[in-house]
Amino acid sequence: MFSSRIPSSLAPNRLAQAVLEQRRSGRPFIDLTESNPTRAGFEYPPDLLAPLAGPRARRYEPSPCGAIDARRAIAGEYRRQGVTVLPDRIVLTASTSDAYSLLFKVLADARDEVLVPRPSYPLLEHLSRLDLVASRSYDLDLHGSWAIDFGSLERALTPRTRAVLAVSPNNPTGSFVTDAELDRLAAFCAPRDIAIIADEVFADYELEPGASSAAGHAALRRDVLSFALGGLSKSVGLPQVKLGWIAVAGPDDLVGAALERLDFVCDTYLAVSTPAQVAAAELLERGAAIRSQILARITTNYRWLRSAVAGVPSCDVLRSGGGWYAVLQVPSLEPEEDLVVRLLTTDGVLTQPGYFFDFPRESFLVVSLLPPAPSFADGIARVLRHFACRPTRP
Ligand SMILES: Cc1ncc(COP(=O)(O)O)c(C=O)c1O
Repeated sequence: MFSSRIPSSLAPNRLAQAVLEQRRSGRPFIDLTESNPTRAGFEYPPDLLAPLAGPRARRYEPSPCGAIDARRAIAGEYRRQGVTVLPDRIVLTASTSDAYSLLFKVLADARDEVLVPRPSYPLLEHLSRLDLVASRSYDLDLHGSWAIDFGSLERALTPRTRAVLAVSPNNPTGSFVTDAELDRLAAFCAPRDIAIIADEVFADYELEPGASSAAGHAALRRDVLSFALGGLSKSVGLPQVKLGWIAVAGPDDLVGAALERLDFVCDTYLAVSTPAQVAAAELLERGAAIRSQILARITTNYRWLRSAVAGVPSCDVLRSGGGWYAVLQVPSLEPEEDLVVRLLTTDGVLTQPGYFFDFPRESFLVVSLLPPAPSFADGIARVLRHFACRPTRP
């Protein structure tokens, strides 16, 4: 009766089961996987969401690609990052996930393929599959820092490849796609009529000084059809508002053809709520205060983590250019899954195993940098104690 787009088993995995059990039994633990900024102790002004209830939100006047005021405000956000994008090349979406789905519909037929980075955001596989698109991986290699392995990209290419996905900075490796890498990606894609989809939702969050200024900007490409994705979810810590966007760039004829098609799909669904569109400009402006709090928190936690692990021979923190996550390399004394379950049940700290993100080997732990500094430090101390590594006080 049901489609094969949905995974055959929907049962919770072993770690999810262990978390449920831990919660059920009332045993407290420190959650180093918390990715929801609205649950991480930031101060949101109480009236921040008031613009959603303004008088303009009462009228329904749908426009498929979104209200022009909101698109202008997003163009203003790009200006802040030094990137010029015309408002009529911006398409509003209900989220980044929604943006991926729209783009897969515009670019791919059933069983066409997209190339996705590995390691990266696990949802990419589900998102493509739900639109009947197959994902094939290309590798990011770790040589001190992460870089695209262009050999693996070529090997993943088939006649059915329709797009290359890039996440910059990547979740969880924190690596930005550099300007030089984006040039190489463009040279790979343009002659083959392959589009670039660049997920830049974490672009505002630099962890290593200079990392973001070395990054390429998909929204500035003139040589290859490119789609840059962003959204309120990360840029101002408001995932519940459900507003994202696609900035379309490339040769003018292709941009025009892509926008026409996006307009058609958006008109079919009209998925973006009017209150979110009406409030966008003000949320972006006032949300800057949330962004600053998030940036301060993740920077503090990242620096603390690096200093706590420095000099500990058996553990290491990989350098992360930006984003909300950090990756710890730890001794492979047992399979990652056993390790994260044991860390939860015996040490009272929840982390994510590297294999969730398709790391090429074991053992890596992925931690969110969002938790308040004291619980972050406590959680990391528990992880290091597990390996009998004493963190030094920062
Ligand atoms: C790389 C990446 N893209 C997109 C998203 C989701 O964004 P949205 O809430 O706009 O769908 C996430 C969420 O963690 C993410 O890590």
